[in-house]
Amino acid sequence: MNLAQPDRQALHAFARAMPKAELHIHIEGSLEPELIFALAQRNGVALPYPDVEALRAAYAFTNLQSFLDIYYAGASVLLHEQDFFDMAWAYFLRAKADNVVHAELFFDPQTHTDRGVPFAAVIDGLHRACVQAHDQLGIRAELILCFLRHLSEEAAFATLEQARPHRDKFIGVGLDSSEVGHPPEKFARVFAAARALGLHAVAHAGEEGPPQYIRDALDLLHVQRIDHGVQALNDPELVARLARERIPLTVCPLSNVKLCVFKDLAQHNLRELLRQGLVATVNSDDPAYFGGYINQNFVETLDALGLDAAELVTLARNSFEASFASDAVKAGYRARLEACCREHGIAA
Ligand code: ADE
Ligand code: ZN
Repeated sequence: MNLAQPDRQALHAFARAMPKAELHIHIEGSLEPELIFALAQRNGVALPYPDVEALRAAYAFTNLQSFLDIYYAGASVLLHEQDFFDMAWAYFLRAKADNVVHAELFFDPQTHTDRGVPFAAVIDGLHRACVQAHDQLGIRAELILCFLRHLSEEAAFATLEQARPHRDKFIGVGLDSSEVGHPPEKFARVFAAARALGLHAVAHAGEEGPPQYIRDALDLLHVQRIDHGVQALNDPELVARLARERIPLTVCPLSNVKLCVFKDLAQHNLRELLRQGLVATVNSDDPAYFGGYINQNFVETLDALGLDAAELVTLARNSFEASFASDAVKAGYRARLEACCREHGIAA
């Protein structure tokens, strides 16, 4: 192997082997069609598709909303604590295979509580899987509660109230669902209340929405990371600020293509984000719907954009920097990344 310029196969192997953090994964978006059908049968839920193939064939999206409609329908099979555990455990097994060492999982409680599922069933099942992921797989896993932005501020406050007795089981709040028409300002007060509880704050912004939503997420919600944020490049002043303040972006390349944010991966701006000095990371978003888990995102993106080994290392390093792990834990992750670089003959 030429160590200075690894060939494509060696680069793939390195990308797969790198220890990495996943910071943008909706756990409901990891629900594979096979598990949807298994849970539907277990829980006696009728699905509007005859089989797995028919469901998968419906995964042809034109924008975010066309995806969300199917995504919320898929989540309707989740009823009991064990269902939430099984879903998260299936994700952790996949994450382990992709050398994810740290995962911060989004979950959407309102999708479930609005159907009558107790909040405790949701968070207890997910939390039990997180504990087991740490004990059995060596993955540090945390939960981030997302408010659905198409619902009201009042509903978000009610959800935060339901979550309060479970404060020790999640580390932060996020904001997801239909972006355009639901600006960050709608949730300024509930984010302030969450931050007062010592919770971290993140928000989807600049996925389909304008750069102004990214500014507002920073200034009104005081978020520590921006989820997606790919529209930032349309605003050079904002890019300069994100770089200066080292605000991470949790980018999801396959998602952006599936939801028609970019025409194809070759058009994706991930490499440009890195070149402009942004703390960009690679993530899977909703891997069961968008064609792959985190390593698939890495491998397809590196091929399409011609990323080199140094850019891959930067992406993995960024994922640790952007995580909510302690400084000591982050130092341990960086050491593992450096060891992986040495093993693969790549300069750290
Ligand atoms: N919920 C699940 N995936 C999402 C995405 N990509 N954007 C907004 N909300 C989501
Ligand atoms: Zn997302």
